[in-house]
Amino acid sequence: MSEQEIKVPDLGGADEVEIIEIIASEGDSVEEEDPILTVESDKASVELPAPLKGKITKITVKVGDKVSEGDVVGMMEVSGESGGSDESAGEEQEEEKAEEQAEAKSEESKPAPKKKSGGSRKETVKVPNLDGFDNVPVIEINVSEGDTIEADDPLVTVESDKATMEVPSPYAGKVEKILVKEGDKLSEGDDLLEMTIVEEGGEEEEAPSAPAKEEKAESKPAEKPKQEATPQPQGSTYEPPSPGAKVHAGPAVRKLARELGADLTRVKGSGPKGRIVKDDVQAYVKGQLQQAQQGGGVATGSGIPGVKLPDFSQFGEVERESMSRMMAATATNMQRSWLNVPHVTQFDEADITEMESFRKAQKAAGEKKGVKMTPLPFLLKACAAALAELPQFNVSLDMERKEVVRKKYIHIGIAVDTPHGLMVPVIRDVDQKGLWDLAAESAELAQKARDKQLKPAEMQGACFTITSLGGIGGTAFTPIVNTPEVAILGVSKAAMKPVWDGNEFQPRLMLPLSLSYDHRAVNGADAARFTNLLTQLLGDIRTLLL
Ligand code: COA
Repeated sequence: MSEQEIKVPDLGGADEVEIIEIIASEGDSVEEEDPILTVESDKASVELPAPLKGKITKITVKVGDKVSEGDVVGMMEVSGESGGSDESAGEEQEEEKAEEQAEAKSEESKPAPKKKSGGSRKETVKVPNLDGFDNVPVIEINVSEGDTIEADDPLVTVESDKATMEVPSPYAGKVEKILVKEGDKLSEGDDLLEMTIVEEGGEEEEAPSAPAKEEKAESKPAEKPKQEATPQPQGSTYEPPSPGAKVHAGPAVRKLARELGADLTRVKGSGPKGRIVKDDVQAYVKGQLQQAQQGGGVATGSGIPGVKLPDFSQFGEVERESMSRMMAATATNMQRSWLNVPHVTQFDEADITEMESFRKAQKAAGEKKGVKMTPLPFLLKACAAALAELPQFNVSLDMERKEVVRKKYIHIGIAVDTPHGLMVPVIRDVDQKGLWDLAAESAELAQKARDKQLKPAEMQGACFTITSLGGIGGTAFTPIVNTPEVAILGVSKAAMKPVWDGNEFQPRLMLPLSLSYDHRAVNGADAARFTNLLTQLLGDIRTLLL
């Protein structure tokens, strides 16, 4: 074992190149040629490879540092039999040199300046010298047919085993026909695409310029479609794909993305100038996996075509405003639940005539306590009793692990209508609380919701939700299950109805109940049992005490 310095090889004459990514870490075992860091000159980004097989013991530079040939960037431990490091490093240097020389040549091999005659002409753009490499695969097409582009705009990105290079456009003009596709292997002189070049006047056209710098390409990304204020899937590394947008990433990152099947146009770069580094790819893939496991990916993974919006202004005056974060989050949650859960709604009616007289009789007591007794605490209590008796409603499904999660607690969410949107605070341990406590707590949480004072913890952990529109109106509705819960009770406005008692019709106050449930967790018979039980409990509230 011997320790030796890792030095920057010849960079083809380029001095003071910036380190844009450190790929290897201290302690990493590397093979000869494994990339250690990426540097970026104004021509290309190049990975500096390990000169030998061994273990990285120290990295002495950081992202943003500028290095030149011979600078020490770290130390590594190599085993004796690995052969002479100088020899190997020498080879690397040769390769790097060849790369830079080829680059210089590629400048020379650009089409000669052309005389402009005014008007327009067609040109077939050919592949320039690719750093001396042949058969280099196209990994990205950066333009589309019909695009109007400037000279130097990147046309395609190719990737040799040493570097990623953009082939810049030698002309400004319109892309007529793309003659290559991703995966094609290109060599110098191959036809790349056809362009129409618009010429102005008879002056000599500027010589086609040097290969596009990545930053330059980035400074004029393809115009992104105007984003609607739709919620973005979680994971800060996600960006909507921008057709034709430049991906700013080195070969190792591209390789990793290919191995993981990550679309780099969707990954947001955290490196200098938005460069995508390995961590970004890993974070993106992790985010996508988490989303898939949580049943997310509504916007991208449902496989359902999106709704195409017409230009509404053709029908009359319109104005657009951004959705609030809350509205966007609610929209995502609703869609996620609706798409993931096979919903069925069971309807029933509870005779709450006696319950209402009891409730109204509590008015004076309520005033003394400073608490208003509404039907909601009775509903909470009845639902808690039904959840205890029919525990198949107090579960969540873990489809990933094919497990049912049974909850030993009874926390119930209450949907609260607020000026800024729907909020669902959660009352904990409903089964252990009395009606007055529930009345006070639900009023307090509803007020907090309206005042935007709810803490995140106060909106988490529900087993079941009650959504009551009874104070507003309606006879029935089909609420959406608040996943990962498996059922929700919708309550509509109680109304006096004639009810047959076996001998005659009696005027009774009937409360409409709409129980939506996840049919994967709950079967129809159990749902009918659940609403049946609720009607019994609400019909004779003494049974709540049993
Ligand atoms: N039938 C008839 N009347 C009802 C009723 C019902 N099912 N539920 C409540 N009421 C009455 C109440 O008794 C009260 O009348 P009163 O003042 O004469 O006593 C009145 O309606 C208003 O009650 P409210 O203040 O709404 O209290 P609540 O405890 O019933 O409800 C909330 C509290 C937070 C649930 C309610 O204010 C709310 O926000 N509901 C909307 C929920 C929602 O938007 N759901 C849709 C989700 S998609």
